[in-house]
Amino acid sequence: MARTPLLMGNWKMYKTVAEARAFAEALGQQSQKLDSRIEYAICAPYTCLHVLRVMLPAHVHLGAQNVFPEKEGAYTGEIAPGMLAEFGTKFVLAGHSERRMLFGESDQFINQKVKAIVANGMTPVLCVGENSSQKEDGVTKEVVTGQVLQGLDGLSADEVASAIVAYEPVWAIGSGKTATPGDAQEVARAIRAAVAETWSDQAAEGLRILYGGSVKPENVASFVQESDLDGALVGGASLDPASFAAMAEAI
Ligand code: G3P
Repeated sequence: MARTPLLMGNWKMYKTVAEARAFAEALGQQSQKLDSRIEYAICAPYTCLHVLRVMLPAHVHLGAQNVFPEKEGAYTGEIAPGMLAEFGTKFVLAGHSERRMLFGESDQFINQKVKAIVANGMTPVLCVGENSSQKEDGVTKEVVTGQVLQGLDGLSADEVASAIVAYEPVWAIGSGKTATPGDAQEVARAIRAAVAETWSDQAAEGLRILYGGSVKPENVASFVQESDLDGALVGGASLDPASFAAMAEAI
């Protein structure tokens, strides 16, 4: 099964509405660099979603960086999956390492988010990755496959086939260091094998796996050309429209 490559930006807590508008305008001017055989998305702060929905080129989808796994309720400061879906949001990140570390999100809570995202017709982007001491201890594959199986638990094989996993080694995020494409491919292969064993070969074949961690225009192609990597989740380098377009061209 051919998996559509995906270039996804994660803006984290960057950009005002005015800055998001300027980004969308500049990317629109370079939209000839965005090949229609590739999917694109920007996971923006909630306050920027409206301007991006109106101004981004048509095949650049909206993504959110987080969600609370309840329909509605007394959850001050949180946002519900239905609110994001109503807005035209296609992708939602779950379990980014910054949320795991800074906000204490557990695999179980992240799994509730994944299920809520799917139940509301959006695509979950489950973020997983080992930290530097786990890497040194040689337990990367165990850690990562454990996060994947717990994060996707309870989904059907068809739902897993349509989901996305972003493999982001924690030590590579914002550090300028990356996994080697070969190491990232090995981890992605292990993820696919664990999914095949737990759900089905078809689920494993359909699941898209992105690499994230200091991706930029100069290195994005080296990851995406690996057979089990289907795209990239990019932080810092996605903030600049020229660099987003350059990554699109490189893929
Ligand atoms: O989610 C993307 C991410 O955490 C990687 O960030 O800045 O290293 O590309 P960066």
